[in-house]
Amino acid sequence: MAETHGSYSMSNERMTQPGKIMLVGIGPGSVEHMTQRAREAIAEADTVIGYVTYIKLVADLLEGKEIIRKSMTEELDRAVEALERARQGKKVALISSGDAGVYGMAGPTFEVLFQAGWKPPREGDGAPQDVELEVVPGASALNSCAARVGAPLTHDFCAISLSDLLTPWPTIAKRLNAAAQADFVVALYNPKSGRRTRQIVEAQRLFLCHRDPNTPVAIVKSAYRRRERIEMTTLAHMVDADIGMLSTVIIGNSNTFVQHGLMVTPRGYANKYDLQDGQAHTGERPGRSLSTGLNGWLDNLFADHDAGDSVELLAQRFGLPAGYIHQVLQEPLEVSASPHETEAADEA
Ligand SMILES: C[S@@+](CC[C@H](N)C(=O)[O-])C[C@H]1O[C@@H](n2cnc3c(N)ncnc32)[C@H](O)[C@@H]1O
Repeated sequence: MAETHGSYSMSNERMTQPGKIMLVGIGPGSVEHMTQRAREAIAEADTVIGYVTYIKLVADLLEGKEIIRKSMTEELDRAVEALERARQGKKVALISSGDAGVYGMAGPTFEVLFQAGWKPPREGDGAPQDVELEVVPGASALNSCAARVGAPLTHDFCAISLSDLLTPWPTIAKRLNAAAQADFVVALYNPKSGRRTRQIVEAQRLFLCHRDPNTPVAIVKSAYRRRERIEMTTLAHMVDADIGMLSTVIIGNSNTFVQHGLMVTPRGYANKYDLQDGQAHTGERPGRSLSTGLNGWLDNLFADHDAGDSVELLAQRFGLPAGYIHQVLQEPLEVSASPHETEAADEA
């Protein structure tokens, strides 16, 4: 394997045959959990660029390739170097753990490319073509970590990174607060490092303003890697757990439960059906929105407004902007859809 260290300046040197950059998500770290296309992309590459740990994870696939190892903080260098090589006509695999588009190399690479005047090649317009680019998706940490602990993401969820290296803390805190308040299941990426130890404590504090201290929390370290470690705990105790740079913290919503050590967030079937006999509850119909779905809510909203509740009071009741409630009330109620129309796919 040829090796290169250090950073390069960008040159305009181009070969007649433009090269290609492949932004490859390698999944959680085990070769079995890489996609077929990710393996092919690495096999096709002349040069593989990545953070040292990720290079180690795919070491078996790198025979005969130029390898460029970079440190965690050299993301822009990785992108610049990939463009440099690709403009020399090489195929370059720029690897990220998980998915390259989730807190990975895809964003910084596009930024560097646009800055360097790159445009996506267009077939047959006769203009000189720049390097090709392909984003190869991979299973992100939230998919891998969820799979290891049960089914915690079966309802609405979001990902929040606790890294304040590039994001101001007030932005992170506002997002944590909004997600906690809105009852999202939350996957916390970059929860803690040697230097960043207080962020997870502040995240817990914000969540405890909105959620029960017994809310289930799963902490998954190095999912599908040699040193994998899984810890099930609660919101009240999560900061006592072993959390590091290679951990993802999944905080359940108000319905998430743990049974036989497995963390599950219900999809919502119990809102509509008796789970024993499969019969719909009174007032609910299979394949139709819940009685508390949009149409039911609108009926009640109009009724409450007609009964004298002000826009401001309704806004406060539902935690929604008064301007939105005002707009909704301007629009006449629609006649319900045909009773024969079903939306069973929603429930699959
Ligand atoms: C810079 S982000 C990279 C995310 C990656 N692109 C993805 O889609 O999973 C690094 C963070 O991802 C999470 N992570 C990545 N791989 C993981 C794994 N195998 N197990 C647990 N968490 C992981 C951790 O929260 C870590 O701090």
